[in-house]
Amino acid sequence: MTTTGLVQGASVVAAVLFILSLAGLSRQETAKRGVNLGMAGMVLALGATIALALVRSERPVGVTAALILLVLVIGATVGTWRARSVEMTQMPELIALLHSFVGLAAVLVGFGSYLTAYSPGAAGEGHATGGGTVHAVEIYLGVLIGAVTFTGSLVAFGKLSGRLRSAPVTLPARNWLNLGVVVACAVLLAWYLGALGTGGGVTGGSAGGGAGAGEGGAVVPLLLMTVLALALGWHLVAAIGGGDMPVVVSMLNSYSGWAAAAAGFMLGNDLLIITGALVGSSGAILSYIMCRAMNRSFVSVILGGFGQAAGPASSDGHDGEHRETTPPAVADQLVAARSVIIAPGYGMAVAKAQYPVADLAAKLAERGVRVRFAIHPVAGRLPGHMNVLLAEAKVPYDIVEGMDEINGDFGETDVVLVIGANDTVNPAAQEDPGSPIAGMPVLEVWKARDVVVFKRSMATGYAGVQNPLFFKENTAMLFGDAKDRVEEILKAL
Ligand code: TAP
Repeated sequence: MTTTGLVQGASVVAAVLFILSLAGLSRQETAKRGVNLGMAGMVLALGATIALALVRSERPVGVTAALILLVLVIGATVGTWRARSVEMTQMPELIALLHSFVGLAAVLVGFGSYLTAYSPGAAGEGHATGGGTVHAVEIYLGVLIGAVTFTGSLVAFGKLSGRLRSAPVTLPARNWLNLGVVVACAVLLAWYLGALGTGGGVTGGSAGGGAGAGEGGAVVPLLLMTVLALALGWHLVAAIGGGDMPVVVSMLNSYSGWAAAAAGFMLGNDLLIITGALVGSSGAILSYIMCRAMNRSFVSVILGGFGQAAGPASSDGHDGEHRETTPPAVADQLVAARSVIIAPGYGMAVAKAQYPVADLAAKLAERGVRVRFAIHPVAGRLPGHMNVLLAEAKVPYDIVEGMDEINGDFGETDVVLVIGANDTVNPAAQEDPGSPIAGMPVLEVWKARDVVVFKRSMATGYAGVQNPLFFKENTAMLFGDAKDRVEEILKAL
């Protein structure tokens, strides 16, 4: 079998491993296997890509191998360092930053492909796909998606890491601005194709040899479109408020997949096309599921908050008296309870309280109390954030339930412990139509007999919205770091 045949075989196996990996990742019990399958697929894909690069190399093979090794060592060193140093709470911003790299790579591959195929004097050797107009459009779309992904992801990184303010930037007539940029990109595409003469002049690999002034001129609309696409990416994400950030991160995940697929078309790399399409479509499906979970319009989020009500956060529910409690009092409540639900949120991750929380659940279960965890789909700062933390602390999967499964059970629950959650348990989403989170499904914890809220102050959550739950008669506040307070309850038990 030829090297190319072997590489193609390896690519197919890698693609199957990626699909099996996604299937594994869809359930908590099989997630570890999914990660291992994904890693195996990636090793195979890298091996196949390197082998192909060596076979196709026009330089001495040793030089190409040394160059690949150099970038592999740099990438692996930076990747290992970040993976080891990143805090769980910083994962979303790291993911957003990684998406920006994919976007930037697509832009660079696009310009590289353009220069290889169409610049004056080019021999067209990189013209892998062979189609004049098709290849030119691939380059244009690849650069467009890549540029939107690049700046959009950088803004998401800035917002999630607190470097940029999370409130939406609402420029006047912002939807018209976005539409104007899309129309301008379409006009520039016509200019670009006209300058390349793809209607007949530039066909297949013959482009380079006959390249002239007109083809060189196509770089102007390509560059103008890139600038517009960079601005569009910035504007689309800047216009979205903090509450919708999870969907944006997942949308950018999807965009980065399409950008990678576009790069695959430009380079004639089938595996990159398949992998990019898998990431693009799974990211889009996840975004859709998250939009449904938050009662947000999918289209509104893609279009940079189109149709979204802007304005300051509602202050309804601000006023009122809150009641405080103590760890020994909570311990007494728990011992007397028959059923307890724990609703964790971002604060549990910040406090790293998952271990004592898992101990508390185990201790109560030993005493015959029915303990379960209620997981909101966007609790924390990344999809599955709470599930990962609870799995890390070895909480059994069968007592961890999703919002839809458990929401009907709060009415028959004695005590709910809200540990560092805020927006995801905010009744304003149902009670206040003017609230920025109105319509977002929430855990209906207030229906329980008693609710204890663990947090450090009366501060608002991620969406910046005050929470009327804190002022309800059956709610008591347990102030302080969640880990310390749970450990004190454990001692009192
Ligand atoms: P949040 O609404 O963010 O509230 C977390 C609460 O934890 C805060 O009110 C904070 O209050 C408290 N807290 C922080 N550190 C603490 C500590 N050490 N000990 C005890 N409490 C602590 O959390 P949530 O209910 O999980 O909601 C998630 C929010 O993030 C939603 O608005 C969601 O849309 C957004 N978001 C989600 C994602 C994904 S994909 N999950 C991604 C980006 C954004 P104090 O400061 O008073 O302690």
